[in-house]
Amino acid sequence: MSTIHITLSFLSLFIFSFQDLFAASTRHLCRPEQRDALLDLLNEFEIRKSSFDECYINGSYVSPFPKTVSWKNDSDCCYWDGIKCDAKSGEVIELDLSCNGLHGRLHSNSSLFRLQNFRFLTTLHLSSNKFTGQIPSSLGNLSHLTSLDLSVNQFSGQIPSSLGMLSHLNYLDLSVNQFSGQIPSYMGKFSHLTSLYLSYNQFLGQIPSSLGSLSHLTHLDLSFNSLVGEIPSSFGSLNQLTRLEVGSNKLSGNFPIVLLNLTKLSVLILASNKFTGTLPSSLFTIPSLNTIFLSNNNFNGTLEFGNISSQSQLQLLTLGNNNFIGPIPRYIPKLVNLKVLELSHWSTQGPVDFSIFSHLKSIQTLMLGHLNTTTTIDLDAILSCSKSLRSLYLSGNHVFTTSKRSVSDLPSQSIDTLYLSGCGITEFPELLRTLEHLQQLDISNNKITGQVPGWLWKLPDLYSVYLSSNNFTGRIPSFICELRSLRILDLSNNSFSGSIPLCMGNLKSTLSVLNLRQNRLSGDLPENVFQSLRSLDVGHNQLVGTLPRSLIRLSNLEVLNVESNRINDTFPLWLSSLQKLQVLVLRSNAFHGPIRQASFLTLKIIDISHNHFNGILPSDYFVKWSNMSSLGANEDLPNERYMGDEYYRDSIVLVNKGVELEYERILKIHTAIDFSGNKFEGEIPSSIGLLRELHVLNLSNNAFTGHIPSSMGNLSALESLDVSRNKLSGEIPQELGNLSSLAYMNFSHNQLGGLIPGGTQFRRQPCSSFGDNAGLYGPSLDDVCKDIHLPATQQDETPEAEEEDEEVFSWIAAAIGFGPGIVFGLTIGYIMVFLRTRVVHKSIPPKQTQKQSTTTH
Ligand SMILES: *[C@@H]1O[C@H](CO)[C@@H](O)[C@H](O)[C@H]1NC(C)=O
Ligand SMILES: *[C@@H]1O[C@H](CO)[C@@H](O)[C@H](O)[C@H]1NC(C)=O
Ligand SMILES: *[C@@H]1O[C@H](CO)[C@@H](O)[C@H](O)[C@H]1NC(C)=O
Ligand SMILES: *[C@@H]1O[C@H](CO)[C@@H](O)[C@H](O)[C@H]1NC(C)=O
Ligand SMILES: *[C@@H]1O[C@H](CO)[C@@H](O)[C@H](O)[C@H]1NC(C)=O
Ligand SMILES: *[C@@H]1O[C@H](CO)[C@@H](O)[C@H](O)[C@H]1NC(C)=O
Ligand SMILES: *[C@@H]1O[C@H](CO)[C@@H](O)[C@H](O)[C@H]1NC(C)=O
Ligand SMILES: *[C@@H]1O[C@H](CO)[C@@H](O)[C@H](O)[C@H]1NC(C)=O
Ligand SMILES: *[C@@H]1O[C@H](CO)[C@@H](O)[C@H](O)[C@H]1NC(C)=O
Ligand SMILES: *[C@@H]1O[C@H](CO)[C@@H](O)[C@H](O)[C@H]1NC(C)=O
Ligand SMILES: *[C@@H]1O[C@H](CO)[C@@H](O)[C@H](O)[C@H]1NC(C)=O
Repeated sequence: MSTIHITLSFLSLFIFSFQDLFAASTRHLCRPEQRDALLDLLNEFEIRKSSFDECYINGSYVSPFPKTVSWKNDSDCCYWDGIKCDAKSGEVIELDLSCNGLHGRLHSNSSLFRLQNFRFLTTLHLSSNKFTGQIPSSLGNLSHLTSLDLSVNQFSGQIPSSLGMLSHLNYLDLSVNQFSGQIPSYMGKFSHLTSLYLSYNQFLGQIPSSLGSLSHLTHLDLSFNSLVGEIPSSFGSLNQLTRLEVGSNKLSGNFPIVLLNLTKLSVLILASNKFTGTLPSSLFTIPSLNTIFLSNNNFNGTLEFGNISSQSQLQLLTLGNNNFIGPIPRYIPKLVNLKVLELSHWSTQGPVDFSIFSHLKSIQTLMLGHLNTTTTIDLDAILSCSKSLRSLYLSGNHVFTTSKRSVSDLPSQSIDTLYLSGCGITEFPELLRTLEHLQQLDISNNKITGQVPGWLWKLPDLYSVYLSSNNFTGRIPSFICELRSLRILDLSNNSFSGSIPLCMGNLKSTLSVLNLRQNRLSGDLPENVFQSLRSLDVGHNQLVGTLPRSLIRLSNLEVLNVESNRINDTFPLWLSSLQKLQVLVLRSNAFHGPIRQASFLTLKIIDISHNHFNGILPSDYFVKWSNMSSLGANEDLPNERYMGDEYYRDSIVLVNKGVELEYERILKIHTAIDFSGNKFEGEIPSSIGLLRELHVLNLSNNAFTGHIPSSMGNLSALESLDVSRNKLSGEIPQELGNLSSLAYMNFSHNQLGGLIPGGTQFRRQPCSSFGDNAGLYGPSLDDVCKDIHLPATQQDETPEAEEEDEEVFSWIAAAIGFGPGIVFGLTIGYIMVFLRTRVVHKSIPPKQTQKQSTTTH
């Protein structure tokens, strides 16, 4: 049977292709002027392989392939990849250059627009390239366009008014760019529009109310912008429908029309903006709606859904990370088709009846973190709520588990993701043993003591395991070396003791992240460590010995942190052969000797402070540190701006601006050099001035002599400069006065003299930043110091930096953003985006611990 079937379909396939071929030979050849214009178009841009890693198109990542390799002058352009011609006229009507590695500006004199060459174009897809600059206004000349996709590029500026001429558009995707300004109200005149995607840009202001007249709109995604205001009145008048339903007479003339106009809406995504106000409850009664993502806004008040009819189509609903207070809407159980429900950070401020969720028979993902409820959640009961449940997020609530059930009792063995961080749990929940398909477990920040139960490591599908911030004791089990699917293991901040298991050389391991920070581990680092590691953190233990030379086999290693141990070794110059190493922290160990000429091409953060390094740094020392001198040409998509991946973000503690800051995430563009607390002597290498992307430089507590190099005036990204406690002489270079980002500086305890540079940044420093020097003077200093010869006090003041803090760290905030926003299917990853964003908000600005930089470690 099946053979016949296959043969038949093969045959029909063949017949169809044959017909195609036949048709082709009878068609007009492509018009020569259009062919030439296409080849000209190609020549306007550079094609760069580097951006070919992955392309995000139409809801999924595809491996890229430049379509234009088939573009040959001697063939019919109607048969080139990405081109479609009109069957009768031979006119090019579709141009799809998505994911083609094109770099450059699309100019208004581009051959795409010249001589009305492509005036009959109906489809223009340029998604996932690296186009920069504004959209040329001549794009409006392509007035036959019905589908325009410019997503995932670096277009910027306002959307030109000429785009308003594209009145036939039914599909418009401008998402994942850097567009700014307001959403043009003329878009409300695109009466055929069914899909409008503007997510991941910098749009401001309110949603134009004209969008309320897009009567065919089915998909609207405006997420990840800075839109403000209440849901626009044309949507908001839906609210009045509720009033009508309940018999109110507050009708305004046009509300029914608006309602009719929006009845086709099936996907409404407004997440991650700055919307305020209460939600119209009748929004949830629009029968066509399948997806509503409103999380990460400032919606407030209590919310009720209205009397939902049983035929609600709603499958995906995210409302979390707003300012809702009061009870969970009681009509939620009526949303029987829900697959994803997210209500995190809903301040219920009272009891919650968790049994209502058992009515959601189709539920797969239930995100109920941080509900501020007085109810303690029975884990056994909620895991039993639905057979379809896969992912459950309960972090930040009180959770208990009776652990009395037998294995077969539990219906929801399909659970693969369980988040129980900060739930006040005191015993490892025995029932996890029954979750055979568990992949992700986060049980961090609880109060669990004793050993990790051995059965945990026998769950076959474990992918990521977070056990940090409990009080687990005992040795790290060698089981971890056997787990084939394990990628992330975070055991940090516990009381694990003994030595690190020797089995870590296991070549079959796929472990990518190993975090053993802050335990009581002793002994040497094992000679062989998993070669698959991307991130290894063993900081704050009691490790001794040397760094194993086999680390150079970790070709994927990006982060190596061994801080605060007792490792006694010379500078690991050999690590410079690691092609991906970006973060190296050797702080507070017994490293010693000179550090010699190193060429760390990829390094972005190096902290070797508080060791016994000595010697002179040659003046060209930093010449080859290219990753700190210019950002990589291949700038990342917004979702890749932090080190790590969607399951794990690397964190670090750095001294920045005189205080220890804990970065819960490391931005890829963050750069820092901390050589403080060693015995370096000689001059500060003038090549430091090459590191134009450097943010933090700390050379304090050494024995540097000579002048501060004037090349430091080139460090235009510098925020924090500390050269205190050295033997520097001469003047502070006037060039430093121009460094507008420099928020913190410390020149104290040197032999500096002469005129202090002008500039507001210098005026903002406390007097102590200049204290104990040979004779500094100047208007800047007069502003901050009553007595310029004041000897530095023992306890240096912390600078009054709160105000600047926000500014300085706004570059962190500015870079918030995750995966591209156009996801249609039931994608848990998309939901995760909203969850994670909340975490990011919480981590900005970085936590400040009270310690001063001058404390010895
Ligand atoms: C393509 O080839 C034709 C002749 O076959 C030539 O006239 C034309 O200039 C070529 N176009 C380009 C863009 O090279
Ligand atoms: C996206 O994919 C769907 C099918 O998965 C298809 O129907 C649709 O036309 C595609 N859209 C674009 C813009 O390629
Ligand atoms: C198009 O215009 C840009 C500047 O607007 C110019 O640099 C470029 O040379 C022009 N290209 C052509 C083909 O005229
Ligand atoms: C193309 O658009 C520009 C700007 O909108 C306009 O000035 C120009 O006349 C148009 N060209 C043609 C050929 O229509
Ligand atoms: C609703 O759409 C119709 C066209 O279908 C339009 O005439 C009307 O102005 C729209 N109403 C509103 C309030 O936008
Ligand atoms: C919602 O927030 C706004 C300010 O953004 C405030 O004026 C309003 O009173 C709040 N409403 C409720 C119900 O809390
Ligand atoms: C909700 O609607 C149902 C019918 O769909 C009706 O039986 C019920 O009384 C309504 N409840 C309220 C509070 O209006
Ligand atoms: C949690 O609820 C209490 C009242 O039960 C309230 O005082 C407190 O502000 C709430 N916390 C948050 C973060 O909403
Ligand atoms: C370590 O865990 C304790 C509780 O066990 C917690 O208070 C502390 O904040 C954690 N430290 C870090 C750095 O996570
Ligand atoms: C953790 O457990 C160890 C051994 O049981 C104990 O000595 C230590 O005080 C505990 N630490 C905390 C923070 O509870
Ligand atoms: C480091 O090891 C050397 C011997 O190799 C020893 O002389 C030195 O004292 C050690 N340094 C520290 C700080 O332990």
